[in-house]
Amino acid sequence: MVSGPPWFAPGHCGIKPAAMPESTPPCALGTPPAPASPDFPELKARGLRHLARWFYRPGEVLRAAQARHGNTFYTRLPSLGRALVTGEPAIVRATVTNPDLVGGRGTRFLRPLLGEDSLIILEGEAHRARRKLLAPHFRNEAVRRFDAMTLQRAGAVLARLRPGEVVSAAQLARDITLPVIVRLVFGKLDAAAQSEAEAIVATLYHSFANPLFLFLRPLQLRLGGLSPWGRLVANRRRLNRFIDARLDALRAQCHDEDAHGVLADLYRHGDGRKRRHIYHEVISLLLFGHDTGAVSLAWLFYHVHRDPRVLGTLRTELADVSDLAAFCESERSFCAACVRESLRLDPVVMHLTRIAVRDTEVAGLPVARGQAILPSAWLAQRNPEIHARPDEFDPWRFFDGQGDTLDNPYAFFPFGLGARKCIGEPLAMRQLKLILARSVQDVSFELVHPTLPPERQMLLIGPRGGTPLRVGNRP
Ligand code: HEM
Repeated sequence: MVSGPPWFAPGHCGIKPAAMPESTPPCALGTPPAPASPDFPELKARGLRHLARWFYRPGEVLRAAQARHGNTFYTRLPSLGRALVTGEPAIVRATVTNPDLVGGRGTRFLRPLLGEDSLIILEGEAHRARRKLLAPHFRNEAVRRFDAMTLQRAGAVLARLRPGEVVSAAQLARDITLPVIVRLVFGKLDAAAQSEAEAIVATLYHSFANPLFLFLRPLQLRLGGLSPWGRLVANRRRLNRFIDARLDALRAQCHDEDAHGVLADLYRHGDGRKRRHIYHEVISLLLFGHDTGAVSLAWLFYHVHRDPRVLGTLRTELADVSDLAAFCESERSFCAACVRESLRLDPVVMHLTRIAVRDTEVAGLPVARGQAILPSAWLAQRNPEIHARPDEFDPWRFFDGQGDTLDNPYAFFPFGLGARKCIGEPLAMRQLKLILARSVQDVSFELVHPTLPPERQMLLIGPRGGTPLRVGNRP
């Protein structure tokens, strides 16, 4: 193991070598970054086995690397080369606030799927302008209007469950949130168009059953409807035809903000933008907005149903709550604490990706043009110096406004950080709280498997099978 260089003073700005003694006091985040150029250990794991583990079990790789090397190390990754992986708050902060380290470049491999003109891929001025255009749709005041729809749909989906039936928590979440994402993107639709859009999005999502072909270009072959890529292309075309029909309808109608959602804004403020570019943003929002929440909810249900004390506390808290939308406004409830704790323990996006567009420096470390830095939520959120008993699901650490990490955004960032922080966070947080609260009130579940290993689900890491649950009797 390579330990840190001598200038590392214990507790100095949060960056410390792996071998630092346990008694090291955590430092304040306000301290300036390291003055000298640190050197970090190399995670010496190469070859296909290493790649397969990064792909399928990144948590295992990060856990072993953290135990051996601490919170910051180099590793080699396909298409990124030698990358610095870090969960050290000071380095994370220096990375996400450095304008020479950009976000969109790390998601370029998604261009065959998403095209080049979505928020997730754009950079610089184009990214800022698109964010400004989309932001009003995602603010708390705007997403609040989906509460009633979420609760109503959750009630209907949960009411259909029969005792003894086995369901996947992720699939329940997809069924519940599908109408909301469709409404957000396409605005108010008549019943037939709404069900058509829901069917298109659900089918599109199913075409991602095998995540490998997203990453391996040779698998992106159009071999008709029988090949995964061929199916995806066909489903994307179907979505584009639906978008075309909505754009034609928009042209014919008056422009009512509430009625037309994100699509109308893209169309109206597109400054001559071609339809192709509208397709790109829509598919990216539908894909990323829909499944991140579903997989996060699968982790949440897994953790909550593993510990009877947690479930009991939730039941007591929710016993007399009649207005769930008002209840979920609060960040101080035990329900909100469960959501945060689940996002801490199992962030579905294991790391952010920032790439240097010119030679720069991060916390005293020279970073060459083209080099990648990966601020890892998994590492930061399981850092034992910041989060006591980091591997335990303990919602009480966040309860009632407490929180060892609430005041430290660089140690808790399941939604990312800085200019590229997840635009959908307010919507996602509301939905997670609303669905958990409604299900605790309406249904009783038990886990089919007491332990679920993490597995890759497209770009995300979720619990195996999306957390299979057995439906019990109504509480
Ligand atoms: C629990 C659910 C969710 C999680 C954990 C999550 C997580 C993330 C993360 C980690 C990023 C990268 C941020 C960065 O690089 O700093 C991101 C970006 C993004 N997310 Fe989410 N997300 C969730 C839900 C949503 C929803 C509901 C939507 C939209 C409906 C959405 C849309 C986006 C978009 C468009 C970006 C790109 C932002 C940019 O580059 O400016 N996400 N998300």
